[in-house]
Amino acid sequence: MKKYIVANWKMNPQSVAEAEDILAYIDEYLKNETEKKERSLIICPPFVFLDDISKILSTSQLSQQAELGAQDIALADSGAWTGEVSGPMLKRLGVSYVIVGHSERRWKMGESDELVNKKLKTVLANDLTPIVCVGEKVRDNNFKEFLKNQLSATLAGLSDDEKGKCIIAYEPVWAISSNPDSHPDKPEDTLKAVNIIKEVLSPNTLVLYGGSVTSKNAKDFLLLEQIAGVLVGGVSVQKEEFVQILKNL
Ligand code: PGA
Repeated sequence: MKKYIVANWKMNPQSVAEAEDILAYIDEYLKNETEKKERSLIICPPFVFLDDISKILSTSQLSQQAELGAQDIALADSGAWTGEVSGPMLKRLGVSYVIVGHSERRWKMGESDELVNKKLKTVLANDLTPIVCVGEKVRDNNFKEFLKNQLSATLAGLSDDEKGKCIIAYEPVWAISSNPDSHPDKPEDTLKAVNIIKEVLSPNTLVLYGGSVTSKNAKDFLLLEQIAGVLVGGVSVQKEEFVQILKNL
């Protein structure tokens, strides 16, 4: 089964030169890889690097295995939306995937389920593949209920066909490395959440895990049949560490 490795660079690195350096390192590793791996590598850089990275991805070994993702999308395709970047603009840059509903946008920037739902519909209307992030803030007795409700509200109004196009990233907020006292989820508990997601959507839904994934624990998630891959944040811009994750597959 093909596994997805999504690199969510967030607001990193700070220059194109650093971005090029990370990609050159990954490219070198892929060139020397002896065994062909069933994987899809999705690089999601900040908007300002998309153009440069799109060119790098099309001219290197990465072009065989890596695709481009964006971290956000505007609600509209054009017009008076100061600071926003539209779906058609992303497509023209070679973007295939868009992350929506990331917990940093939900909790730090106040994106509601309704807003995430609108962005999700815009991603689909532009024929891009959404990576929809969901996850509870606290793992308490209500977490299953919270997850079901968040998922239903985030995907409200989508047809079964549209739901089938969504990749879901289960990212418990408390597990994300930039949050205080964060720690990765236990794979057996992740499976409980994955089962809920598959119950609400479909047994065939692709569900990724994200939250403090490192080269040490990536395998614990990637080896599970029910988990379609990992969404990596902090260590996705640490080139050696990220390549170690690729070696795990
Ligand atoms: P992390 O981030 O790997 O640094 O925990 C994951 C994410 O926020 O997508």
